Amino acid sequence: MAIILGIESSCDETAAALVTSERHILAHKLAGQEEAHRPFGGVVPEIAARAHVDALEPLIAAALDEAGLELADVDAIAATAGPGLIGGVMVGLVTAKALALAAGKPLIAVNHLEGHALTPRLADPALCFPYLLLLVSGGHCQLLLVEGVGRYKRLATTIDDAAGEAFDKTAKLLGLGFPGGPAVERAAALGDPKAVKLPRPLLGSAEPHFSFAGLKSAVLRARDAQTHSAEDIAAGFQQAVIDCLIDRTKRAIAVAPGATALVVAGGVAANGPIRAALQQLAAAHDLPFSAPPLWLCTDNAAMIAWAGAERFALGLTDPLDVAARPRWPL
Ligand code: KG4
Ligand code: ZN
Repeated sequence: MAIILGIESSCDETAAALVTSERHILAHKLAGQEEAHRPFGGVVPEIAARAHVDALEPLIAAALDEAGLELADVDAIAATAGPGLIGGVMVGLVTAKALALAAGKPLIAVNHLEGHALTPRLADPALCFPYLLLLVSGGHCQLLLVEGVGRYKRLATTIDDAAGEAFDKTAKLLGLGFPGGPAVERAAALGDPKAVKLPRPLLGSAEPHFSFAGLKSAVLRARDAQTHSAEDIAAGFQQAVIDCLIDRTKRAIAVAPGATALVVAGGVAANGPIRAALQQLAAAHDLPFSAPPLWLCTDNAAMIAWAGAERFALGLTDPLDVAARPRWPL
């Protein structure tokens, strides 16, 4: 059994976790930065990077403490090396390099998206390759056939905004607060999804991709019309996103035969109605459905430790001069 220390710092969560190759989460610690970014209505990269510097070391110490371990007990150190806000990524990666060098442990540079993509396997031991993954986060909206560790066939991506970005922008437009996704979900629960007519970009299109920019503009127009409540607009928006995600995923199921399950991951996968709609879609196609528990959907370090564990099992470690990458497609 291997024990992996995972570090995450690519956006606005600083996190450290210890996870074993046998799927035991020995400790996980997370410090959010919502308060620091709230006055700006979004994540400010420079503020995020400085907050990671302050938070990371104590979190690593606390995680080791909670697990009753010392750095010497760890088999490898995994850190997000991208994609993300480069200042934050560098804080986590440089810290991991320093610890790896000092303790003489292997370093694993993890692609944050691979963390999201493999985490369903941490939560669900029965989940085997290949699976069809809807990866929906603040920066990405993709359909992937996950064939193995490091083997991701991209079937679709967004041609403009990511799904989470659309949630965040809608929250800002409607004055629902920050972070946007959970705020829109709460407001939508109080509204009528049929009250406002909103577009469903690319619905039924023969091409595989997603698009959310037109939906965001329609939300702006609906708000300015002042004929409906923020709750009704939020509900209409969320239903439009669900319809688009389901339509595009249905198309991917048709072109990706052999997938053993339908899986959703990434921050937007924490949305209850989206999870429920995907579960229904999977059932209609006789596919098992898998989604990590909510806290493993949004950014955390257990997902980075787990991706590290999967890579470590295959002997995939990285040299200490591995670079941080602001962009890094899977
Ligand atoms: O995966 P994640 O934590 O960070 C990135 O890698 O981007 O995803 C963050 C995104 C944000 O856009 C956030 O608004 C969205 O996930 N999100 C949600 C919910 N919780 C988080 N979107 C819709 N409903 C939610 N409950
Ligand atoms: Zn993420």
